[in-house]
Amino acid sequence: MTDVGRHPRIKLHTLSEVVDVKGYVGNFEARILKKARYVDEKECTACGDCAKVCPVVRPDEFNLGLSSRKAIHSPFPQAVPSAYVLNPNECLGHNPAVCAKCVEACQKGCINFHMSDEEIVEKVGTIVVATGLEPYDPTQMDEYGYTRFENVLTSLELERLVNAGGPTRGELVRPTDHRRPRSIGFVQCVGSRQARKGGSYCSNVCCMNTVKSTLVLKEHYPDIDIKVFYMDIRAFGKGFEDLYMRSRRLGVQYIRGLPGSVEEAEDRSLRVAVENGAGGALDFHALDMLVLAVGMMPSAKTQKIQEMLGLQLSPDGFFLEAHPKLQPVDAATRGVFYAGCAEGPKDIKESVTQASATAARAIRLMHRGVIQTEPITSEVMAELCKSCGKCAEVCPYNAITVDVKKKTPAVVRTAACAGCGTCAAECRFGAISMNHFTDRQITNQVDSLLAEEPGEKILAFACTWCSYAGADYAGVSRLQYPPNVRLIRTMCSGRVDEDFIWRGFEQGAPVVLVSGCHIGDCHYIDANKWTVKRVERVRKKMEKLGLRPERLQLEWVSAAEGARFARVMQQMEELRGSVTAGEIAETIRILREKPGTDGAEPVQ
Ligand code: FES
Repeated sequence: MTDVGRHPRIKLHTLSEVVDVKGYVGNFEARILKKARYVDEKECTACGDCAKVCPVVRPDEFNLGLSSRKAIHSPFPQAVPSAYVLNPNECLGHNPAVCAKCVEACQKGCINFHMSDEEIVEKVGTIVVATGLEPYDPTQMDEYGYTRFENVLTSLELERLVNAGGPTRGELVRPTDHRRPRSIGFVQCVGSRQARKGGSYCSNVCCMNTVKSTLVLKEHYPDIDIKVFYMDIRAFGKGFEDLYMRSRRLGVQYIRGLPGSVEEAEDRSLRVAVENGAGGALDFHALDMLVLAVGMMPSAKTQKIQEMLGLQLSPDGFFLEAHPKLQPVDAATRGVFYAGCAEGPKDIKESVTQASATAARAIRLMHRGVIQTEPITSEVMAELCKSCGKCAEVCPYNAITVDVKKKTPAVVRTAACAGCGTCAAECRFGAISMNHFTDRQITNQVDSLLAEEPGEKILAFACTWCSYAGADYAGVSRLQYPPNVRLIRTMCSGRVDEDFIWRGFEQGAPVVLVSGCHIGDCHYIDANKWTVKRVERVRKKMEKLGLRPERLQLEWVSAAEGARFARVMQQMEELRGSVTAGEIAETIRILREKPGTDGAEPVQ
């Protein structure tokens, strides 16, 4: 941190929040709100004279409320810059005339009540999202009595308690009587691996953090009695199993089973009821202190940053990488990378490894000075654009801008466009063309595939990343599926225009299938959510026209699901068998009488 603060080419904005980001890879513009410090950070030497005279005492957030601080304070001992900060909401000196003792005490005259928040704009080429995590708040797990009993702490609170720079200078004491506990229990998986409370995922670090704490405690207090209540210990990692075994050898008891209830005795010690996983008996353990090994939750600002940068979230609420194996630190939005727990629970070693990879990826991109874009991008035909703004609304990358009020045609920032084609599919005026996947190219494919015996064919649109790859996988696995399936490849299922579907039916297809990546797996953030809406829309229109809506099917098939692909195609074949020649002829008649069924111009 100190190195970062001193580095001549790194600008560090502390007490700052990014409030908006515009632009695209190589040309981002970040708007930053820098909060007023009320202390001149260049002049302040952190002597502490101001804090000594400050009469306002508040809980110290850095020590998780286990100690106190003043309204003017240093956020934590190694803070960079090494300068004090004044919290205006706590300070009596909203009107400096009321107190201003700190102003008098500061010999260098660093304190200035007239400072105000400022807005800074920074132009950057790449962005690293390293927003960290939130520890799980165990208040809602009432069975552990976290807020009811003072001697129930979280693992982070214990960490501060045994830290030499902590509130007790590293001395382990019970919060209620400040005496050294003789017995201490640890409860694992608090807020982890349970969907109801906290996250359903493993938080990765809690087991080894507990093992480390038991070793530290045993080193300082060899006679202390330690029990760890767990579901299973996950000591995966270099040297971790050794540490776990060392902890056991030092006498730490590992008991399989999590507490069902915690009660407090008169002397404030705790009675913990645990169903022993080995024998099934209900055991009671008397402990002086209980430590809850809390899990990791996504940072509170994750949602806001996701919206600002057009990122994707995993079902757990952490940021989702572009590809788990090939692009593990890249976001789907070009020029944005992840480091640390923003992307998922990690220990220090993993975070450092990922941060190094992230830095290398960002430097590589910046060093080149230019970026190469894929040729598959969208283009606006300005003369057809009605400035409705739909394309900008559906673009997962915020790559399109339209001034709806001024009625200026949409503009695509090619560098930001990833080529999903959702904009072209949603444009009702045919004003957007997808290079290499134009309307004409795709409708020509539909026409030629259905030129002969259309009633015998199954027309299927497949996204290149999942469903098309799933078909490939079915092929290399020698899986049998109906030979009359005709596949049309698009980059994303989001590219499948209503017109393509109508064209298929109009050319005599009994069944049309739209397929793509599973929801949440789309390679273009969430473009396939528009596929769902579009297919639903077409089905409703089919119903109105007197056509059977089930003749249009939507299925998700991943690249690894070759067997599923074959199964889906078999189902499509069964469906095709249920469509009579008369039904197909009637469909063609209805559609030819109603050109442009989606309300737009008929496809040329
Ligand atoms: Fe497959 Fe979007 S990339 S559905």
